[in-house]
Order: sequence, then C-alpha cells, then structure tokens
Amino acid sequence: MQDDLERVLFHETTILSRLDEIAAQISKDYSRKELTVIAVLNGSLMFMADLLRRIPLPLNLDCLSVASYHGKAQTSGEVIFKQIALPDVQDRHILILDDILDSGNTLAAIREKLETARPRTIKVCVLLSKKKQRARKVDADYIGFEIEDEFVVGYGLDYDERYRNLPYIGVLRHELIKG
Ligand code: IMP
Ligand code: MG
Repeated sequence: MQDDLERVLFHETTILSRLDEIAAQISKDYSRKELTVIAVLNGSLMFMADLLRRIPLPLNLDCLSVASYHGKAQTSGEVIFKQIALPDVQDRHILILDDILDSGNTLAAIREKLETARPRTIKVCVLLSKKKQRARKVDADYIGFEIEDEFVVGYGLDYDERYRNLPYIGVLRHELIKG
C-alpha cells in the first residue's frame, strides 16, 4: 500500500500528538456540559477512537453513516443517509466528528439534519480541512491539520474503500485516481 503513495503527510506520532492538543481543548470547552459525540462513519473511525480516548469527560457516542463519493475521488454533491432514525440529541451539546472537510456538502447536510433533532448546540471537529473554495460553507470549530487540495488516504480515509487501515496519512499517487 505504501508504494501507492506519492508522499507521507502526517506520521502516526504527529497525528497522535495533535489529537492530544485537540482533546485537551475539547475537554476544557465541554466540562460540565452534556456532550454527545456524533461520528461520521466510516472515515472518522480511527480519528474517533484515538480522540475520544483522550477526552476524560462523560459523553454519549453515536455514529452516522453517509455516502457521497461512490468510489470516486470527487464529490457527487448528493449526501445519502444510511439510517432512518436520528440519535436522540434534544437539548444536548453535539460535537460532530468527521475525517475531512472537502466540498462541505457532507457536513452541511449532516448539520442540517441534526438541527431538526433540536440539540442545544452543534460544533464540528475534523481531522483534516482542505484549503479551497467550498461548495457549501461549513465552519469547523476544531481542525487537526489544514492541507492543500490533494487527495489523501490512510488513518480512516479511503480511495474506493482501500487504504483506511494505513496508520498514517499520505497523498495518493495521481495516476491511481480514475477520472
Ligand atoms: P465533502 O462532502 O466534499 O466535504 O467530503 C467529505 C467526505 O468526502 C469525507 O468525509 C471523505 O469521506 C471524502 N473525502 C473528501 N476528500 C477526501 C480525500 O482527500 N481523501 C479521502 N476521502 C475524501
Ligand atoms: Mg470516503
């Protein structure tokens, strides 16, 4: 798998030490609040597991599963929710966790949907945020790393469902991306 990468962007140790910092900030911001973390599967799996183990607060955890990519490297714009029932978040403080903020379509759709369940507050935490013009405006409250507009894989992020199990994040070689 490593041969498929153009270069490594963030080694595992770099990711984990950044998670120490974000977790400390989240723990401070949510002390004495009824926190519900909503993780967006599958991409945020590793991020969720490593981040939440660093937050020593009582919290609820729910996962949402959405699809918008369909195996390609460009967003389709359409976000499909794979479950019918939303978690019970009324009056709770929601923190949405996602792997990467790209066009903004996914997080904007999730945020909109969760607002209908009448939470007290909603914040967004992403591991990666691409520096680019977004199709939809989404403000992430916590960002692990800002990256250039390149296609990255590893540490939960996939290309056509591959590479999620790489322990680090790297840029996928351009010639492996099908139009
Ligand atoms: P958005 O809706 O365009 O913001 O895209 C969000 C979703 O697209 C993320 O949760 C990822 O699953 C996927 N995605 C966007 N950019 C990348 C990338 O560089 N590598 C892998 N997946 C990506
Ligand atoms: Mg994906």
